Formats: sequence, C-alpha cells, structure tokens
Amino acid sequence: MYTANPNRYTPANFQVRCGKSGLHLPKIALGLWHNFGSVDDYQNARAIALRAFDLGVTHFDLANNYGPVPGSAEETMGRFLREDLKAYRDELIISTKAGYTMWPGPHGDFGSRKYLLASLDQSLRRLGLPYVDIFYSHRRDPNTPMEETMGALAHAVKSGKALYAAISNYNAADTARACALLRDLGTPCVVHQPKYSMFERTPEAGLLDTVQKEGLGCAVFSPLAQGLLTNRYLQGIPADARAGKVHGFLRPEQVSEDKLTKVRALGKIAEQRGEPLASMAIAWVLRDPRVTSAIIGASKVSQLEQCVAAAFSAPFTATELQAIDTILA
Ligand SMILES: NC(=O)c1ccc[n+]([C@@H]2O[C@H](COP(=O)([O-])OP(=O)(O)OC[C@H]3O[C@@H](n4cnc5c(N)ncnc54)[C@H](OP(=O)(O)O)[C@@H]3O)[C@@H](O)[C@H]2O)c1
Repeated sequence: MYTANPNRYTPANFQVRCGKSGLHLPKIALGLWHNFGSVDDYQNARAIALRAFDLGVTHFDLANNYGPVPGSAEETMGRFLREDLKAYRDELIISTKAGYTMWPGPHGDFGSRKYLLASLDQSLRRLGLPYVDIFYSHRRDPNTPMEETMGALAHAVKSGKALYAAISNYNAADTARACALLRDLGTPCVVHQPKYSMFERTPEAGLLDTVQKEGLGCAVFSPLAQGLLTNRYLQGIPADARAGKVHGFLRPEQVSEDKLTKVRALGKIAEQRGEPLASMAIAWVLRDPRVTSAIIGASKVSQLEQCVAAAFSAPFTATELQAIDTILA
C-alpha cells in the first residue's frame, strides 16, 4: 500500500499560481502521452507516477487518445487513482483533452459540442472519476464555430464534470477570442498548453504575450522536444527510446545530424552549469516568467528525477542565454 512522502510540499516555490486563477500547478507536470499505455509496463509506469507525486508533482496531464491503445493511458491513471492515489484525490490536478481523432465518424474528432461532451464522459469512465480538474479543447477546429467549442467547455464546467476550462495549440488570435467567449460564459479559461522548447520557439512570436495579457497560466508541452534535448540519441537510436519504438510519435528521421550537433553544443553548456542537458532544457523554458509549468514525459524514474530537478536549477546568466541563442540560431 502506497503512502506519499510527507515532505512532498517542502521544496519552496514548486507550486505556482496558474495565471490569475486560484489554481496552483507544480512547475513540473507529468504527461502520460507515451509510456503509460496498455503496451507499456504497468509497474514501471506506476513507479514513475508515484515518484512524481512524492516529489511534489501534483499535475498529471492526459488526453482521450493517449495510449496506445487510445484511451489506455486514462485507464492506467484510473488504476493509479483506484489503487494508490485515492486518498490524495483532492491534492491532484488531473487534466484531459478532446480534439484529435478518437473514434470513427464526424463526431470523434475536432471541436463539436457533440464530440467534446461525449469524449469527456468517456474519459471520466476510464479514469473512474466524477470530474477532471482541467478539460481542454485539444486544438482549434477551423470548421466549427468557436462559440460552439467554448460553449461545450463551459457546459463541462457548469455540469461539474470539469473544474476549469482550457485550450491547447490555439494561436494568439484564437486564444484571445476563446478567452473572451469563455469569460462571457462565466467559465474563464485558466490555462493554455502550447508546444515550447529550445527547438520550438513559435510561442515567443506573440502567444506568450497574449497568454500573459489574458491572465492565463501557460503549461508548455514537450520541453525536451520528445527527448531530443537530452543525451538519449547521442550514441544512435536505442530500441527502448521513443524514436526506436513503432508507436513512438518521434520518428527516426527527426533525430537528424543537424539537431544532434546542437544537442552536443548545448550539452557543453549544461556540463559547465553542472547539470544534465535534460534539466537545463526544462529550466530554459521555465526561465520565462510567462511560463507557469513544463509538462514532461519520462520512461524511467531516473529521467523524471532529472526533469523535476530543473525546477531548482540555477538562474541563467546573460552569457549562457546568449550562447544558447547562438547555438539555436
Ligand atoms: N497538448 C498537446 O497537443 C500535447 C502534445 C504532446 C504532448 N503533450 C503533453 O506533454 C507531455 C510531455 O510530452 P513529451 O513526452 O513529448 O515531453 P518531453 O519532456 O519533451 O519528452 C519526454 C521524453 O524525453 C525523454 N527524457 C525525459 N527525461 C529524460 C532525461 N532526463 N534524460 C534522457 N531522456 C529523457 C524520454 O524519452 P524516452 O521515452 O525515449 O526515454 C521521455 O519520454 C505529454 O505526455 C502530454 O501530456 C501535449
């Protein structure tokens, strides 16, 4: 029987306010996109999740389609909740999403009210929960009126099946509009979830400003570029790494020589700072005060520990930031 580390809230400044809301998020959240599906080893997944909670990671990020098979990551989380974390439910932030393909037909994808609300019911069944803490529109649906998608999020909150409404992968203009609609509906958007890392800096071109202006939290995903911004691929592609697995979203061709040259140069800066590149890469996204938290993935407990350590990394000097920009240019 699992008993949580009594010192899980001791480290200072690990829990931070999510934008202007009352919600607090840990600086590092654990995402269950990979390594928590029905194809993965349950005991390893459980060890990662419980170590995370022991380190103060209260936020577990899911989506309807995480697996494989789609839906199975929510079932895995449901089992953690049932068998280990039940006593801690009120400390936990469980987020899920709908927006990508989940079932056949026009209402198993994108942003209709029909899809979002049916998907949330399915997610709750898999998780074994009466409500999730955060429900996301996973992506903007260009063919459904935004009023309908935001109306579905607002309904989810008003019906008690989600505590907070949120958006992911929306551009700056759509974010501002979504926020206005949700405000009018009385269920403000609390958090945006964009992709942001040293290798993916698009949010710097306007989205981060919008997020701050709207008073949203910003929980960035794939801060390690799916594992590229680590030492994982420096000696080739290991069979147990994401790019080595048939169902991994990172494909071998994305592990390019150009990327690896940058990774090696970044690794030298990390070494001078006295930390693994994984920790430095996550500390780098957290250096921006508009970023609330980093949603990481891990296939091993040791990886998770390096990711959480990033929340306590030394601040970057101007010289280090300049050197990083030069490598990334
Ligand atoms: N909203 C969206 O559209 C969206 C999209 C994608 C992801 N997300 C969320 O973001 C979460 C994180 O995404 P991600 O998994 O791509 O994040 P990531 O942190 O960029 O990559 C995680 C991978 O990096 C490797 N890694 C982690 N720590 C390491 C370390 N210390 N040393 C060496 N390698 C290390 C592991 O790869 P190996 O598995 O190969 O060991 C791990 O699976 C997802 O689970 C999901 O919750 C959201």
